Amino acid sequence: MKLELLKNKVFYNLKGKKREIHPFWLRERVNGKDFVDQSTEQRLFDPTKLKSNIKINKLKLSKYFLEVSFKDGTFTKISIKSILREFSNESDIKLIKKIKWNSNLKDLNYFNFNENLFEDKLMFHALINFYKYGFVIFKNVPTKNNFIINFANSIGSVRKTNFGEFFNIKSKANPNDLAYTSLPLSPHTDNPYRNPVPCIQMLHCIENRVSGGYSTLVDGYTVTEKLKKKFPKYHEILTQVKIRFQFKDPSVVLESWAEMIQLDQYKAFKQVRFSPRLDFVPLLDKKQLELFYKARKKISELYNSNYFKIEFKLNPGDLLMIDNHRLLHGRTAYKTNEGNRFLQGCYIDYDSTEGKLNYLKKKFNL
Ligand SMILES: [Fe+2]
Repeated sequence: MKLELLKNKVFYNLKGKKREIHPFWLRERVNGKDFVDQSTEQRLFDPTKLKSNIKINKLKLSKYFLEVSFKDGTFTKISIKSILREFSNESDIKLIKKIKWNSNLKDLNYFNFNENLFEDKLMFHALINFYKYGFVIFKNVPTKNNFIINFANSIGSVRKTNFGEFFNIKSKANPNDLAYTSLPLSPHTDNPYRNPVPCIQMLHCIENRVSGGYSTLVDGYTVTEKLKKKFPKYHEILTQVKIRFQFKDPSVVLESWAEMIQLDQYKAFKQVRFSPRLDFVPLLDKKQLELFYKARKKISELYNSNYFKIEFKLNPGDLLMIDNHRLLHGRTAYKTNEGNRFLQGCYIDYDSTEGKLNYLKKKFNL
């Protein structure tokens, strides 16, 4: 990409095509201290109140800056780098390439907790790995006084649900969810019945004195890409049919209609939902249902196959952070008479991790 000036107009040359930059786009970027608050970077003027036929008076282009004087008497000096950044309508985080993985994954993205972690470069690298793999594990995180809440709020803010600000996962009498038993949990995503679905789940191991109770993870992205390649018809129907996910307990009824595989505006992977205990397929035409059920069976087989699943033990102090829109999680069964298994969990949303990542990137000029 290259900028060029011609008769008080600014052009950019991208992939051999030359186009003019709208003068109003440049006028909106007038950035002196009378126009932009220097600490918040918020505008002190309202561009919707400006006349639309903004004209340029004078231009100067150097190696790093573009200087523009407008006919309304304003002036701006914009870095070329910042103009280049605005060619993308995606955040830097969306550009982090997802790495597909399966049971061959050996490096479980372990990062050691330290007291300064939330202001440390290490957290930046952990968050980058989180976006690449969909999970990361912090080791030696303090286990006293519900520290998970401090941890989550030091990245962003806890997303409270009807399970509370955080939840204690151990087997108990009269549970309102199978998570609170010692039964095995096959791979699933959490809370598909919420709108919006919590983005990230944190699971902090406080105690794990049982021989079973292994944690399992499956990359929904890898699986759905595989399905798309091998069984395109199955992939297609799972991206098209919205099903009803439901959760009921004595105090609340939660329902949400959504696709099992959700795509973005470019038809690329966005999110998976999978929780066969909670899903209700609408009464479609028999042929369509036939295809849908085959597709759901196939994706369930893939999610549950050992080829895609990693299995590992969480030890006291380990805090697992899972992308709940991308990964499925579960656990193996355990025996309560062997000892205690106690995990604490909570949710945060993407704005927390994105905000932290952008902040650390700026702080360390990365
Ligand atoms: Fe879960």
